[in-house]
Amino acid sequence: MKAFAIHTNGNIALVDLPQPEVGVNDLLVKVMAIGVGIHDGYFFPPNARFPYTIGIEAAGVVEKIGRAVTNYKAGERITFVNAMQPKGGTWAEYTVVADGSLILRIPESMSFETAAAVPVAGNTAIKAFRALDLQPGDSLFIAGGSGAIGTLAIQIAAARGYRVAASASAKNHQYMRSLGAEKVVDYHDNDWQEQIAERYPGGVDAAIATQPGTASDSQAVVKDGGEIVAVSGDQFVPVRGIILKQIPYTADVADELSDLLRRIASGEFQLTIENVYPFLEGMDALAKAGTRHTRGKLVLTTKLDERSSDAKGVAR
Ligand SMILES: NC(=O)c1ccc[n+]([C@@H]2O[C@H](COP(=O)([O-])OP(=O)(O)OC[C@H]3O[C@@H](n4cnc5c(N)ncnc54)[C@H](OP(=O)(O)O)[C@@H]3O)[C@@H](O)[C@H]2O)c1
Repeated sequence: MKAFAIHTNGNIALVDLPQPEVGVNDLLVKVMAIGVGIHDGYFFPPNARFPYTIGIEAAGVVEKIGRAVTNYKAGERITFVNAMQPKGGTWAEYTVVADGSLILRIPESMSFETAAAVPVAGNTAIKAFRALDLQPGDSLFIAGGSGAIGTLAIQIAAARGYRVAASASAKNHQYMRSLGAEKVVDYHDNDWQEQIAERYPGGVDAAIATQPGTASDSQAVVKDGGEIVAVSGDQFVPVRGIILKQIPYTADVADELSDLLRRIASGEFQLTIENVYPFLEGMDALAKAGTRHTRGKLVLTTKLDERSSDAKGVAR
């Protein structure tokens, strides 16, 4: 099968690899679409054997199940996360995901491209909210509001009745408003923190900081004793009694993620895919993710030679 794999020297290339072996607890999946993230270039398990297929999320069709798998059957459409899978990741024509991993059935009306864009960003956004103690009417600042996580986090927050402020470049301000942000700022402005303070005197109740370094910067807009989730793992000693929270990785959010998929399928939530790349252009997709300036999500289709009909725009 075709796969993008990382070699021991760190280079990633398109190679031919055997299909992964299906263990007793595994689902073999024919991959139809792959969610792309900056982590795909460097995230692999400590026991990886090289060349190791990169990627941690995808949507596809169950091709075969191991003999201990009872929850799924061949032919089902699923979207999933298989991070740290020693047999290889998702940037391939086939991958395996162990039963018990984060696996979601795809709503009937949803395309594989849309489904592939949800698991990692949705999982992260939902877990970020789990870390926070927010009530309807509370205020929240989201640093990096137009990216993959921000796009979902703004909408989840607005649906829960939180007042949302968010940052991104000026070209994304109307977009973030359309997702439900009531206050938007450009992080390039020297006075973006003052702009937030004008709207929320005393500071917002909490912040979700998606990009490296943004958690520390966000302290200036959070109230005394407020909370910040550092999605990118920033570590620092907070000021003014602010509590620095990390993502609760072991929380089970499968039901909330299924609900998120349903809301996207029904059109209640937007799922923006900036671009669907043909599989052979995988390295371009990875480079674009590395810029940290994508609106919504990037997706790779495993169709080998054609641009997907779903390319660009808002999912249905
Ligand atoms: N903890 C976890 O479980 C987990 C899971 C997934 C990802 N992550 C981490 O989350 C990060 C990726 O998040 P993502 O997928 O949402 O990224 P993304 O899609 O690349 O998001 C980019 C967003 O960040 C904004 N941005 C870029 N530079 C910024 C800066 N210096 N200050 C403020 N905003 C900035 C962009 O705005 P403009 O384009 O308008 O400039 C855009 O809104 C990575 O660091 C990844 O490691 C963590």
